[in-house]
Amino acid sequence: MTDAYAGRRVLVTGGLGFIGSNLARALVDAGARVVLVDSLVPEYGGNRANVAGIEDRVTVDVSDVRDPHSFRSLVQEQDVLFNLAGQTSHLDSMTDPATDLEINAAAQLSILEACRHHNPTVKLVFASTRQIYGRPQYLPVDERHPVAPTDVNGINKAAGEAYHMLYGQVHALPVVALRLTNTYGPGMRVRDARQTFLGIWIRSVLTGEPFEIWGDGMQRRDLLYVDDAVRAFLLAGARDAAVGEVFNVGSPVSVSLAELAETLVRVAGQGAFRIVPFPPERQAIDIGDFYADDAKIRAALGWSASVPLEDGLRRTLDYYREHGDRYW
Ligand SMILES: NC(=O)c1ccc[n+]([C@@H]2O[C@H](COP(=O)([O-])OP(=O)(O)OC[C@H]3O[C@@H](n4cnc5c(N)ncnc54)[C@H](O)[C@@H]3O)[C@@H](O)[C@H]2O)c1
Repeated sequence: MTDAYAGRRVLVTGGLGFIGSNLARALVDAGARVVLVDSLVPEYGGNRANVAGIEDRVTVDVSDVRDPHSFRSLVQEQDVLFNLAGQTSHLDSMTDPATDLEINAAAQLSILEACRHHNPTVKLVFASTRQIYGRPQYLPVDERHPVAPTDVNGINKAAGEAYHMLYGQVHALPVVALRLTNTYGPGMRVRDARQTFLGIWIRSVLTGEPFEIWGDGMQRRDLLYVDDAVRAFLLAGARDAAVGEVFNVGSPVSVSLAELAETLVRVAGQGAFRIVPFPPERQAIDIGDFYADDAKIRAALGWSASVPLEDGLRRTLDYYREHGDRYW
């Protein structure tokens, strides 16, 4: 894997965000020449603290992927483009659907147009999401499951993914899409529940506030530690077998939200939670249980999740105990 990126020119959109910055660390360690593009909109997960310690080894370009002119020059001469810039809040996509459409769909077309015209051989890995499946019709969810999102964010992410796959088929761009499940770890947004409910849980545990589980606590989820997500991106960007494919990046090992909350409190050695009814606006877009069938990515790329939940939670808590003041 290290060889695959040594000396390569790599662009990461959303590179100051949670997953993008963890990917950036792995890339610089592998010897890549890394450019990070991020708009640093305060409501999203971008945070300069995410690249603390590697600032001198990456180039940061604070710009917006909705601006096709700046992106055109950025994409030229890159070998790999990890496309992670996105609006991630499901609720925000319902209150401000136009912004979600601009970033998660329209800007994706601009990015693909820039690649088609100015760098058609760049390897392009898109961060898609399990949200596009909507409420699962069966479990675990494989890649053949119907795409039926329950919110505007899911529809726009599905469009963003579909544009990537279309440009692969019609214009021969070497594209891959990774449908990530709930990802957590150092660098995640913990200020609120915009990125994931687990962010606000972690902050609450560490600041001594009780946190809330919405619903009955029985909903099941597969949780993905960020290092495992990063490994999936690196494999997808390096392996020819990935080109033209969409892969679930998750796990058939699931946990109920109540079990997850109990595990978090036990690992932290502190904290409390209560189970409360769903807020109506969240209930309306909730997807129920989700866990992924990851057989396809196991077979094609040899990837599987390797970090046990307790280890991942411990590493995450350790990180915020030390660096929380830059994230609260
Ligand atoms: N974290 C998860 O559980 C999860 C699950 C499924 C999919 N994803 C996808 O992975 C990607 C990264 O998510 P994340 O969890 O790291 O979230 P994040 O919010 O930390 O990262 C996204 C980054 O994109 C940046 N960004 C947003 N709009 C931009 C724009 N117009 N121009 C430039 N930069 C912009 C943000 O500032 C942020 O730094 C997203 O596309 C998201 O949809 C994440």
